[in-house]
Amino acid sequence: MGFSEAIVSVVQVIGALLASVYFALECLVLSLIPRRFRRKDVEGDIVLITGGGSGIGRLMCLKLAARGAKIVTWDVNSAGNDETVKAVKANGGECVAYTVDLCNRNAIYAAAAKVKEEVGKVDILVNNAGIVSGKNFLEVPDHHVERTFNVNVLSHFWTVKAFLPDMMASNKGHVVTVASLAGLAGVNKLVDYCASKFAAVGFDESLKLELMVGGYTGVKTTVICPYYINTGMFDGVRSKLIPILNPEYVASEAVDGILLNTPVVILPGFCRLLIILKLVLPLKGGYMMYRACGGHMTMDDFKGRPVQNGTRLTEKQVLAAQTPNV
Ligand SMILES: NC(=O)c1ccc[n+]([C@@H]2O[C@H](COP(=O)([O-])OP(=O)(O)OC[C@H]3O[C@@H](n4cnc5c(N)ncnc54)[C@H](O)[C@@H]3O)[C@@H](O)[C@H]2O)c1
Repeated sequence: MGFSEAIVSVVQVIGALLASVYFALECLVLSLIPRRFRRKDVEGDIVLITGGGSGIGRLMCLKLAARGAKIVTWDVNSAGNDETVKAVKANGGECVAYTVDLCNRNAIYAAAAKVKEEVGKVDILVNNAGIVSGKNFLEVPDHHVERTFNVNVLSHFWTVKAFLPDMMASNKGHVVTVASLAGLAGVNKLVDYCASKFAAVGFDESLKLELMVGGYTGVKTTVICPYYINTGMFDGVRSKLIPILNPEYVASEAVDGILLNTPVVILPGFCRLLIILKLVLPLKGGYMMYRACGGHMTMDDFKGRPVQNGTRLTEKQVLAAQTPNV
């Protein structure tokens, strides 16, 4: 790089910093306007939610359907999916369910083609399904590590590949990644889970930049990073300082993240400070902070989800979820 190019870059960096002050003030002013005036209209939009058969996914189905969106739920658990369809319809909404195993790339592509044909162009894609092993690194069987990555991040590649081209063609759409605070900070006994969620956060950030560089201003992305939530997925976790979150609160904030086109949603919001601290503190200081917050023992009594929607997953469903990519 020549001297003059370096000077131009330095001037551009200073310009970006000054512009950031303006954008921060813009955010501040916007935050003073009540959310109800800032939410986008999703009436008639087709929203596809993976893992819609339980927990946060089901609640998001209900909340977006209440705003007039047509819901498509994908889940490996057909019974959970059917419950969601019933609940949405009971509230006057529209919802169709597809039984899809997100570990199977070909099944994802086949289901995506079916959705396009039977329902239409997906306007909002919410990659929400997730699984967790919750064991020390060496105790996690290899196929569980693979399954965790398949569901928590690789499936995002296949769903986004299937639905993004139509969003880009119309310059209208939204790709939502339900990651986790565990995608921003590591936790012991969650090595596979955290690694997959860090990957999901990286997926969102890079895709966001690629869409911006490509000029697709109408295709938005949002990543949701919540702390532990009381849905059953993390049954048994203990939290010393930060309260375990209520599913209703997380689903409401996640839906508002979509409706307000928020790029990154961290829940609870004050956890942003912990992430900044993690980046600036020396490792030993960060570790003391981790212990002080009780991070080291949150997973000690972890049991996870023994049953789903009142029924234990059948052996077939468990096996289906373990099917390697073909
Ligand atoms: N519960 C928490 O404490 C917590 C915290 C932070 C982030 N999250 C994330 O939020 C998301 C939703 O979690 P939740 O608490 O609602 O969990 P949940 O267990 O209630 O729901 C997950 C859904 O994903 C489905 N699923 C799992 N494997 C699948 C597969 N192979 N194919 C298709 N569907 C599959 C399950 O059947 C289930 O319906 C997940 O991505 C999770 O990692 C959860």
